[in-house]
Amino acid sequence: MVAFSSAEPTGTDESDPEWCGLLEYLLTARGFDFHGYKPASLARRIRKRMNLVGLKSFAAYQQHLESHPTEFATLFNTILVNVTGFFRDPAAWEAIRTAVVPEILAGKSPDEPVRAWSAGCATGEEAFTIAMILAEALGEDAFRERVKIYATDVDEDALNTARHAAYQANQVEAVPPELREKYFEQVDDVYFFRKSLRRQVIYGRHDLINDTPISRIDLLTCRNTLMYLNAETQARVLARLHFALNEGGFLLLGRAETLIAHGHNFVAVDLKQRLSRKGLRPSWQGHPSPQADKRRSPRSAWMAGSRARPWRSAQWFSWWWTPTGR
Ligand SMILES: C[S@@+](CC[C@H](N)C(=O)[O-])C[C@H]1O[C@@H](n2cnc3c(N)ncnc32)[C@H](O)[C@@H]1O
Repeated sequence: MVAFSSAEPTGTDESDPEWCGLLEYLLTARGFDFHGYKPASLARRIRKRMNLVGLKSFAAYQQHLESHPTEFATLFNTILVNVTGFFRDPAAWEAIRTAVVPEILAGKSPDEPVRAWSAGCATGEEAFTIAMILAEALGEDAFRERVKIYATDVDEDALNTARHAAYQANQVEAVPPELREKYFEQVDDVYFFRKSLRRQVIYGRHDLINDTPISRIDLLTCRNTLMYLNAETQARVLARLHFALNEGGFLLLGRAETLIAHGHNFVAVDLKQRLSRKGLRPSWQGHPSPQADKRRSPRSAWMAGSRARPWRSAQWFSWWWTPTGR
């Protein structure tokens, strides 16, 4: 039997009882399940906290958590990277604005709901980016009548920031000035995302690994979140995201998250922007869905013209998740 010294953390796999004990403790004590995360980067972040409080073993750190409950919040802030921004990766949002949203709206009658989900939304910037794009496309009245945007994260602290929707000047710099003017209220140095639009945003704690996915989604963004998970968990979460989408619904991943051919689940729309679409039935290959044909509205007329839609030019491959490096 291997003896584990408590002087140095030895490993981060199932053979290390101290490591397993700590993960189990985080789950039972606070409901955070880190079993599906990449062990090396998870351990690196936990060790960072251990170094700062002067502890060398996972077991000692677990005892420290037991006697210093405030350490939980600091630890979770270290593990759950909340880095985000409005219009992060502008080219991806340009594709959403110019191609994806018009296609979604073209496939719906004028009173049908439009449902988006920012999964792993951190402090809310991504959800509000979607809100601005949809409000611009629909007009504010229709936006309020038709749109629901789910903004979820496993991190309650980040979600609370999202709920307040208050940002500093440097945080709203990436918002085009005309949208900033229109959708934010400035009070002293703080920019509040406007309340009238915020009502369409529904915030909730949601763990992508363990919780039931939201359903009937037209546009799902899950960016820079899957890359923290191990290969098996990434695949599991991707299957849930697939379930969450309407037929033909769109999925936008982060820049570091790629897809490979496998199975019949997603169609690549724009590989560079990590944009894909839930597979339409084979008889619809390369064509808009019958529903979209029936309901196609004049506002999408340009799309039928010479400007090729990205998914028209994409071959009918089916794409599935390729896990990012462990
Ligand atoms: C780097 S941020 C990405 C924020 C935003 N999507 C973006 O790309 O700008 C990653 C977010 O994923 C969240 N997260 C990590 N694990 C999660 C899980 N199992 N379920 C839901 N959210 C998770 C973190 O709390 C964090 O807010």
